[in-house]
Parts: sequence; C-alpha cells; structure tokens
Amino acid sequence: MSEIDALKAQLESLQSEALSAFSAVADLAGLQQLRVQYLGKKGALTEVLKGVGKLAPEQRPVIGQFVNQTKSVLSQALDAAEAELSIHAKVARIEAERIDVSLPGRASAKGALHPVQRGLDEITAIFSQMGFAVAEGPEIENEFNNFDALNIPPEHPARAMHDTFFVNPIGDEPMLLRTHTSPVQIRAMKRFLAEEGEPPLAVVAPGRVYRCDYDVTHSPMFHQVEVFKVDRDVSMAHLKGVLKHFLSTYFEKDVSIRLRPHYFPFTEPSAEVDIGCVFCAGKGCRICKNSGWIEVLGSGMIHPNVLKSVGIDSEEFSGFAFGLGVERLVMLKQGIPDLRMFFENDVRFLRRMGS
Ligand code: PHE
Repeated sequence: MSEIDALKAQLESLQSEALSAFSAVADLAGLQQLRVQYLGKKGALTEVLKGVGKLAPEQRPVIGQFVNQTKSVLSQALDAAEAELSIHAKVARIEAERIDVSLPGRASAKGALHPVQRGLDEITAIFSQMGFAVAEGPEIENEFNNFDALNIPPEHPARAMHDTFFVNPIGDEPMLLRTHTSPVQIRAMKRFLAEEGEPPLAVVAPGRVYRCDYDVTHSPMFHQVEVFKVDRDVSMAHLKGVLKHFLSTYFEKDVSIRLRPHYFPFTEPSAEVDIGCVFCAGKGCRICKNSGWIEVLGSGMIHPNVLKSVGIDSEEFSGFAFGLGVERLVMLKQGIPDLRMFFENDVRFLRRMGS
C-alpha cells in the first residue's frame, strides 16, 4: 500500500471511530472531551497530519484535502450532537424543576396576641361597652401627675411605697416611669374639661406601669387598667355596680364581691375589692389561702383634692375610681401560678396561652 493510501485508510478509520463515539456520548461534558480528543491541538487528527511530512511534496495537497474533509465531517457531527444533547439537557432540567401545582400548600405558623395583651383588650372592651371612653397617657410621666396632683405631696409615705424608677428630669420637672395608671385621671380630666367644659365623664385607661419590684406576683413592668367616672351624685353604689358587672363579665360567672376599707391618698373613702374565690367558690383553697376571698383591685371615691387639682368643683361633682392589675386578673382566669411566666417568653407557655 502506498503511503498516501495508508494515510487515507487511517483517516477513514479515525472518522468512523469518532462518529460512533459521538453518537454514544451521553452528556455535553463528555462531548467536549471528544472534541478535544479528535480535533484538539494535540488530538488524533493532528497526529495523522504529522505523517503528511513524509509524503512527496506533490502528494501533500491531495492528503490535505482529505484531512480537511474529515475535519469538517467531524466538526459538523460534533455540532449536531451538541445541539441534540443541549435539548436533552434542557428537557431534563425542566422535568426536574417541575412543580406540582395541585399539591396542597404548606400552612405558615400563626402567631397570637400575648396573653397580657389579650387580657388588656378584653378588659378594656368590657368597659367600652359600658360607655367608658378609652384614654391613654405616657409611660414617662412627670412627678406632678404621678404624685402631687393625686394628693400625694412630696413627703408623703405613699411615695416610698411606690418603688419609683426616676429618669432624667426635664428642666426643673422631675420625671419618672409612671408607677400606676392614675396619672391618666389627671390628664384625661384636664383634657376633657378643656374640650367639654364640665362633667359627666367616664374613662377607661389601659397601659404599662413600672415599679422596682420582682417576685412571684410582681414584675418591674406590668399592666393596669384605670377606670373612673365623674358626675353629679356619683356614689359608692355606682362603683360597686360597675365592679360587679365587670368582674362577672370578665370571669364569665356570677362572682360575689366584697369591699374592704383601705387607704389610698387619691380616694376617700377607699376600699380594696375582693372577689369570692373563683377556684373553690368560696370554700377555701390554696389560691385564696383558705379565706374564700381574693383581692383584685384598689378603688374609692375620688378625693376632693384630686378634683380640685384639675379645677372640678368637688361640691357639685363626685366620682369613683379604681385601678386593677391586668396580669393578676389574667393569672386568676387562666390559672397561671407565677407572674414572671408572662415575661420570660417561653414559646411553649405562650403557645399554650395563645388563642
Ligand atoms: N393607683 C392605685 C395603685 O396602683 C390603684 C387605685 C386606682 C386605687 C384608683 C384607687 C383608685 O395601687
């Protein structure tokens, strides 16, 4: 066989070997490897070309043409295979990414209001339904509204009992975190008088209060709801009626109430209010310490000095007021043993309490 025939035969077998390799390859990466293997700089075709040098000069163009032909057959075959494989790859990807739109969606976890917030809302709503207007005041309060205007002068021992957190004064005015919601009485009465001229007014004021105190029944931040009404001829009977209606509505049963004489500087007379124990129906248990009664709030008839401090004539008008601890009422209703549980943010507790 002449050298030129040998080279031709070599090219032919290379071509058929390459074509069958192209049709067997399964992916684009494998195809790219074959392209390098056959057509690359150090590929099989280049290898064949090395033999061309041994040919006589007039034979070189003949074999050159063969090489070019083989090259173009192989590169066309490679392009065709590549086009086909990319379609396969695309189809496979679409298949893999397919979404079954008929599958049911995953429900996202639902949050719930904090039990204290629910208690606040519930309590406020009961008074709202009785016709009390909702009012709010600032948590950073001046000393005058928190104490002086409420008939608690500077040297009064009640100031010490309040375990007050003081903050930076504003000018000469000492400022504090309000220790109770009673300063809203002052703010709301002043605003009401400016707008309406004179009583009657009936207000419910929910909010946060602060005292430096921490144990099973006390937290340095807690919530109160202040309720008061000023009109002509308001008496203790009105106070008692409103309390009885509120407590029975809140506890969803007919609770008995008892007023015990007490002392608050801003009410006269003053009374602490007990309810018949909601756990043992008055028979005596651990919660009521066998007394059958549980103390729930402080109340009284608004002191004439408080009415005077906002410019209401205490000869003509009278009022009742009370302030209740929200956490305490929620604890009693839900049977929660430790007030601190509200603020530890243990999700297991919050979930159990969530509605
Ligand atoms: N402000 C009182 C307290 O926090 C509660 C109270 C309010 C008592 C209104 C009487 C009248 O202890």
